[in-house]
Amino acid sequence: MKHKSLVSIDDYTKDDYLKIIEKAAHFEKNPVQNILNGKVIATLFFEPSTRTRLSFESAVNKLGGKIIGFTDAASSSVQKGESLKDTIKTVANYSDLIVMRHPVEGSARYASEVSNVPVVNAGDGANQHPTQTLLDLYSIYKTQGTLENLNIFMVGDLKYGRTVHSLLMAMSHFNPTFNFISPEFLKMPKEYKLFLDSKGIKYYEHEDFTEYIKEADIVYMTRVQKERFSDPIEYEKVKDVYILRNEMLKGTKENLKVLHPLPRVNEINVDVDDNPKAYYFEQALNGVYTRQAIIATILDL
Ligand code: CP
Repeated sequence: MKHKSLVSIDDYTKDDYLKIIEKAAHFEKNPVQNILNGKVIATLFFEPSTRTRLSFESAVNKLGGKIIGFTDAASSSVQKGESLKDTIKTVANYSDLIVMRHPVEGSARYASEVSNVPVVNAGDGANQHPTQTLLDLYSIYKTQGTLENLNIFMVGDLKYGRTVHSLLMAMSHFNPTFNFISPEFLKMPKEYKLFLDSKGIKYYEHEDFTEYIKEADIVYMTRVQKERFSDPIEYEKVKDVYILRNEMLKGTKENLKVLHPLPRVNEINVDVDDNPKAYYFEQALNGVYTRQAIIATILDL
């Protein structure tokens, strides 16, 4: 492991991913342990969150640690004009590890550079969401029995969706084939496609996926990220372009799982929820075990 902090998914190697998966499986079998006794974890959320914050907090509580932090920067001295640097240096005095979500791309890297304790990126703008990716890897491994040679469909907002950017980079170690399904305006950014080209990884781009979904091992649905649009008219044009419905899963592969980092808006119809191929709520549960594994790894426990 190159860094103590986890800011970008490429701070970890392929071997690191596999070790996290192994540890997550261990915590899934034994989720309640007292290994964080005396440790304080700070959760600083400058943007809204349900799963990331609460699964981190659940993970810490099950491991006997304590949580401090805020869920709204308006309740902190940021409201009085305090800088990110001063906030991080102060919170680092009170904690053993900082988990931070922030709207500005690069903010987590900056925080890790000024902090005396490790920083975990819980999402920085449209850039990266590495702990989501590690739980996605764990979910894919659990459901497919392997991470190798899978056909992965990424659907929706591939431009602003930080989860797909991190997942693409991580899965690139495992010889995947990618199918990117998005409207023109929300296509996978060029830098990620150049990255795949440099590694010789196959990818295809489509505007419709009903005719291809039968080839998928994983369908990774994403929400159109309203909060990243500067023009609300552009958001209205693309917000409901892809809606996965139960009937669309007929004839798909036995092993297919539908993942979504959540929250969803309309992109997965509720009639999919009872289909055994729907895996997004189990995926959110896997977040607890994976985040236990990440904390234990970073703190050398
Ligand atoms: N997947 C995810 O990041 O969800 P939250 O925004 O609820 O944390």
